[in-house]
Amino acid sequence: MRTLRGAVVGYGFIASRGHVPALQQSGADGDAARFEVVAVADVTPARLALAAAALPSARLYPDHRALLDREAERLDFMVVAVPPSLHAEVTRDALARGLHVLCEKPLARSTAEARGMLAQAVESRRVLYPSHNYKHAPVVKAVRAMLDEGAVGEVSQVTLDTFRSTHAKGVPEWNPDWRRQRAWSGGGIGMDHGSHTFYLAFDWLNSRPRAVSARTWTAPGEETEDNLSCSVDFERGVATAHLSWTAGVRKVIYTLHGDRGAIRVEDDAVELSVKTRGADGDRWTQTQRLVSSSWMDASHTAWFRALHQQFAGAIERGEHVGAELRQSFGCVALIEAAYASASARGREVALARGAPW
Ligand SMILES: NC(=O)c1ccc[n+]([C@@H]2O[C@H](COP(=O)([O-])OP(=O)(O)OC[C@H]3O[C@@H](n4cnc5c(N)ncnc54)[C@H](O)[C@@H]3O)[C@@H](O)[C@H]2O)c1
Repeated sequence: MRTLRGAVVGYGFIASRGHVPALQQSGADGDAARFEVVAVADVTPARLALAAAALPSARLYPDHRALLDREAERLDFMVVAVPPSLHAEVTRDALARGLHVLCEKPLARSTAEARGMLAQAVESRRVLYPSHNYKHAPVVKAVRAMLDEGAVGEVSQVTLDTFRSTHAKGVPEWNPDWRRQRAWSGGGIGMDHGSHTFYLAFDWLNSRPRAVSARTWTAPGEETEDNLSCSVDFERGVATAHLSWTAGVRKVIYTLHGDRGAIRVEDDAVELSVKTRGADGDRWTQTQRLVSSSWMDASHTAWFRALHQQFAGAIERGEHVGAELRQSFGCVALIEAAYASASARGREVALARGAPW
């Protein structure tokens, strides 16, 4: 089994609750790779103290440049888990120093930033891998399996609703409300949840988006939007999404519609409706089941283990800019276009075609 040594930059919520526990569990249960976190960088001393407690042998640094100066030679990878405004800079610095990078979502705040990150991965011949962890939720895997079996035929319509009763908070030791500050986040719930929403839509519609029409709503006095609704025209269908930080409940509801039936997901509950045509019209046979996916646990530790193994696989194959990364670029392009549409009161905005995605 291969051991990969690496560093984490930004020891906040998702690093301490998601990535690091999952990396520490790696190497068991038939994993192809084992990850070791040997260094951590964070600007907040209290977070470094917590990192020292969780990772007693890790070397600690106040910023990623100091870490790279001292550690780059002996590291294989870096996990970038700082707020979005820092993703491009930290990722490019790490790639330029020869490290493979797993970067949190959204990959970047703009296609201009994202393009620079992809170019650096190509130039450095290192893997840049995005954090598409929702694909590893057991219920999402169950949907994938149903689609692969052709249970609902060819999907031409999907809806993706993500309801949250508030914005996610960062760790209290730093700046818990950075998602409400445009300079750190680049946007509100669209920037925060758009990636998870759109990479699922890309997979389910098995095609690329052509245009988007979107509206946003921002609570008075806030810098970033609380709600985003959009309709995305795809080569093979349509996706509609509603993302909210002001919902009455924390929940995801997804529906997928094909020529032979439909799938509905509500957190752990999956309902499959299969259509049969009779002389007196269409009929549906429905089956329901629960696929425990821990949606209420925002750290998603279990989902990250599988994601980390995929990252290791891309490193093994030398896949510097792979399909997941191109999807991630597509998510950034779609978020950017949705914001442009919303600022033009919902006018349809076309997505650029061609490279890099
Ligand atoms: N994939 C997912 O499901 C998921 C879930 C939550 C967050 N995230 C993403 O992870 C990233 C971090 O989010 P979070 O919720 O963990 O935030 P957080 O506020 O909890 O943590 C951010 C950490 O970065 C540190 N930091 C700030 N500036 C820094 C710098 N210049 N250098 C080094 N460290 C610095 C802070 O001290 C803090 O410890 C974001 O991009 C977010 O979108 C992804």
